[in-house]
Amino acid sequence: MKHFVNLRAGVLLAVGIGVGLLLSGAAGLVWEPLVLQAHAQQQPSPKPSAAVAAQLDLQTLSERSPDQSHAMADAGYHFANLWFAADKQNWSLADYYLSETRSHLRWAVRIHPVRQTKAGEVDLKDILDAVDNSFLTEIATAITNKDSAKFNIAYRQTIEGCYACHKACEKPFFRPQVPNAASVSILNFDPNATWPE
Ligand code: HEC
Repeated sequence: MKHFVNLRAGVLLAVGIGVGLLLSGAAGLVWEPLVLQAHAQQQPSPKPSAAVAAQLDLQTLSERSPDQSHAMADAGYHFANLWFAADKQNWSLADYYLSETRSHLRWAVRIHPVRQTKAGEVDLKDILDAVDNSFLTEIATAITNKDSAKFNIAYRQTIEGCYACHKACEKPFFRPQVPNAASVSILNFDPNATWPE
């Protein structure tokens, strides 16, 4: 039983970390109560029964799990900033945003790896692997070589890869484009900025 309780707390904690990262802007707000709750769950308090407790846990987990659209919106956020980091030739920042784009795409796919469509099952992981191993890898090379022209091509090709998956998932209305503004205005994208020190 102790094992079960610890496992449960572990899962809640993991979800807490996931949600905390997802809402990184409000990390403190979300993270702390979840951790406290996870700790509270660890206390061997009187329980109705293991089955009822497990049922409640499943409910709580699904209520707290981030949904795929949220993870994708994060991927879109990072991918848009990536364009402006490269535009300013801020290659370290571009490298960061590429890596965040990749990890959020992987995360989105893990949340919901297979989608049912009229054409049958769509394996999102296969599509993502294809996009990652081709276009996103091209972007990585362009960043390493500080090659703006190659970056420009690879970024536009990636957009087509994004859109191919949206179409395969019967979501053709999610049509990515080269962004016209960064998703964040509090950050200065200029690699030569001098203020603040
Ligand atoms: C492997 C498939 C796949 C790939 C690759 C993919 N997406 Fe998505 N994307 C989805 C799915 C599925 C949804 C809809 C999620 C839902 O319905 O909950 C989505 C939704 C979105 C949304 C809308 C989120 C919202 O709710 O507002 C954005 C933005 C987005 N994707 C951006 C991107 C970008 C940018 C890329 C490429 C860098 C990309 N996606 C690549 C599958 C993919």
